[in-house]
Formats: sequence, C-alpha cells, structure tokens
Amino acid sequence: MSKSHTAAIILAAGKGTRMKSGLHKVLHPIGGLPMVSHLLHKLDGLSPERRIVVVGSLREQVEAALPGLEFVTQAEQLGTGHAVMVCRDALKDFTGDVIVLFGDVPFTPLDVMQEMMAARASSANPGIVVLGFEPADPARYGRLVRGADGTLERIVEYKDATEEERAITLCNSGMMVIDGKELFGWLDKLSNANAAGEYYLTDLVAAARGDGRNVAVVVADEADVLGINDRNDLAAAEAAFQARKRREMMTNGVTLVAPETVFFSHDTVIEPDVTVEPNVVFGPGVTVATGAVIHAFSHLEGATVAADAVIGPFARLRPAARIGKGAKIGNFVEVKKADIEPGAKVNHLSYIGDATVGAKANIGAGTITCNYDGYFKYRTEIGAGAFIGSNTALVAPVKVGDGAIVGAGSVITKTVEADALALTRASQNQIEGYAARFRKKSEARKAEKKGK
Ligand code: UD1
Ligand code: CA
Repeated sequence: MSKSHTAAIILAAGKGTRMKSGLHKVLHPIGGLPMVSHLLHKLDGLSPERRIVVVGSLREQVEAALPGLEFVTQAEQLGTGHAVMVCRDALKDFTGDVIVLFGDVPFTPLDVMQEMMAARASSANPGIVVLGFEPADPARYGRLVRGADGTLERIVEYKDATEEERAITLCNSGMMVIDGKELFGWLDKLSNANAAGEYYLTDLVAAARGDGRNVAVVVADEADVLGINDRNDLAAAEAAFQARKRREMMTNGVTLVAPETVFFSHDTVIEPDVTVEPNVVFGPGVTVATGAVIHAFSHLEGATVAADAVIGPFARLRPAARIGKGAKIGNFVEVKKADIEPGAKVNHLSYIGDATVGAKANIGAGTITCNYDGYFKYRTEIGAGAFIGSNTALVAPVKVGDGAIVGAGSVITKTVEADALALTRASQNQIEGYAARFRKKSEARKAEKKGK
C-alpha cells in the first residue's frame, strides 16, 4: 500500500503529573501494551508518511519504547499549539495534511481518523477538520463555537469561556487534521494572552477563519476519545479494552462462561470453539487453537496451546510453553519453555521447565524437572510414551528414553534407556507383626504406670 501524503504528530510532552508515576503516562499499559502503542496501531491504518512524537519530560523512556518513530523535543510545555510549533523544522518541506493526535487518547478509532481525512479532502476544502464530541458531562473541555450559519468559528477553552459559551455541549476532543501548507503560518498568529498563558492549538481555528478558510467538524462518540489523566482513567480504559476484547472473542466463536472474569492481552489469539472458564488471565503472547478448554483459574503467558488440549484448573503456562494437540495440563502444574507433545499428560502438581515431554508420555503427580543449578539452566528430555512415577525429581541435563518407566519417588540423574525401568529409592524393609507387638507392649506399660 502506498503511503498517504500525511504526517501524524502525536503529542506526548506532558509527563502526566496526575499519574503520580516514574513511568511516562503514555507508556502505562492497557491490555499489556503501552497506551500510545494502541494509538499508533490504529494510525498504521492511515499509512502516514511521517510519524512524529513530541516529547518532553521522561522523553528517553518514550524514545526507547517506540523505535522507528521520529521524535521532536518540546523542552518547556508551553501549550498544545507550542507543541506543534516545535515540529516546524521537522516538517519544513512538508505540504500534505497533518493529523494531530494525543498520546493519552489511545482508542481513537481508525475510521474516525479516516472520516477526518475524508472531510479534509472534500470539495469544501476546509483548512482544518476538528474532532468534536458531546460528552455526558462537558466539564472543563474546550467548547466548539459556531457562527450564525452553523459553521465552526472558533474553539474557546473552558478557562477563557463565558457562561454562555460554557453552556455549549459540543466539545473539543483536541484532535485535528490541518492543511500542512498553512499550518505553520497559522501557528505564527497564536498568542499566549489567555487564562492559562499557553499557546493553544485550538486557536488555529480562528486563525484559519481569519484567512478566509472554512473549518469542518467531525463528531465522535465520547468513548472513542476518552483521555487518560490518572489511574482511575487508566482502570476505566482497561475495563473498556477488556469489554471490547471479550465481545470480539465471543463474536468470533469463543465460549466465555463468565466473560467479565476473563482478562486478555492486546495480542491474545483464540480460535473458535475454545471454551474459557471463569477467572482466567491471558498475559501477552498466547495462542489457543480450536477445541481446547481452559479451565478456571489458569494463568497463561507467552504460551501456545494446540487443538483439543485441556489446561487447568489452576494451571500456569509461562513463556515458550508449547502444549501439543490433545495434551493435558492439570491443576497446580507450571510449564515453562517446554514442548508437551500431543496426547501427553501432566495432570497434577508438577513443574516442567526447559523440557520436552514426548507424545503420550504420562508425568505423575509431583514430578519436578530440576532445571537450574543456581548458575545455568539445563534441559530434560522425556521420550514418547514414557511413564514418570509420582514425586520424581529429574535432575537436568537428563534424558528418559521412549517407553521407559521411572519408579515413584526417584531422583534421576543419569540417562534412562528406552523401555527400561529406573528406580532410585531405597528398597522397602518389612518386619511382620511388629506394629501389633509394639502396640500391645506400649499399652501394657501405660496401664502399669496408671496403677502406681
Ligand atoms: C486540550 C484542548 C481542549 C480539549 C481537551 C480534550 C487545547 C488548548 N485544549 O485541553 O480544548 O477539550 O484537550 O482533552 O488544546 N501537550 C504537549 N505539550 C504541551 C501541552 C500539552 O505535548 O505543552 C500534550 C499533552 O501531553 C497531552 C495533550 O497535549 O497529550 C493535551 O494536553 P492537555 O494539557 O491535557 O490539554 P487540555 O488542557 O486537556
Ligand atoms: Ca487533558
């Protein structure tokens, strides 16, 4: 796809004091992905020629987290208009359209961006397209002031608005598309003689009108332009993201028994006809194939689950756990960086890490792969059809051949050949009748003591 002649400017210079965080506001995750990356993914749909992020405080964090973008530093936060002014050099010879987005308004939908671009390209040739919305509570948002003919005349910030202007319900989301040939000329006309002492981007509207250009308005749903200012907003955004993901999963054929208790990551992939029971958490990087069942209270991260596998209840799949077709991972089993091949069973209370478990092998309760010596990690290889007795410690590096049996309670440190039986526990001694004799003797002694 060819790139559109569009430059995107993403404002993220304010560090977001109300987050009370050492992490830049736009890097706080939603569904495991920095909020600004949600916005950037949407923006990809526009294929802009340029993507410029305006950064200020904590800029090194933002730059490190977003490789491949252009960054412009706004050393002092003198307002949203000023934040665009600092892009003047970067956009010196640019004559396309400029879309201004806010890094802390992460869910701006692609179709809304497209609608703004289309309005800008319309025959009315507006110099600016403003994204407005009608919030349930207009609060302290900027207000869109229309003239007698109904067209947008200017935007007034709440702090500067009269009572009459504050009664306007159509508000400014902050986002705009601007004719790039005029942008910096209009920015030259801004002043900071206002209630905040800032250069307001919103004043561009009056500047364009003064130049004889008209300004169009696209109206978005409130939910699509919600900004994040503090941790309450962040939790609300997470909830909105999860609600959307759950609907998407169910629409695509995934059964969620209690959807409100299941949590997804931005990249969770689940095929149709998977059932997910209550209280399951999907961390980043999980794929689940059709027919699998994820029982209640399981936690999956970086794991791949093949068709018809059964996970949990209370299972933990950690990064690079690959569960084969029809395999079973039961309660209180942790799997990390391990291939559990088709039909294998690890049903109870085990740790399988840095390992291969062959097809149809059976791993008894309490089996542990001892994969770490305090310095290095080692692999355990268990062959197809092997049977590992309960409470076995497999001290890696170690191999158990196909079809071998390991007796319960063994500590395996050496290769077990295919089809062999390995047993390392001490052999059992038995003294016939000892318990009965012991009881009889002890009871007699007790009676004698009492009698004294
Ligand atoms: C802005 C709008 C207001 C709108 C509201 C919607 C202006 C003047 N006002 O107000 O009309 O209703 O958004 O949420 O634009 N930023 C910088 N550098 C700066 C100042 C801000 O990069 O010098 C960035 C912030 O990091 C943030 C965005 O711009 O991502 C918006 O700034 P903010 O201070 O939140 O604007 P509001 O006062 O909320
Ligand atoms: Ca704001």
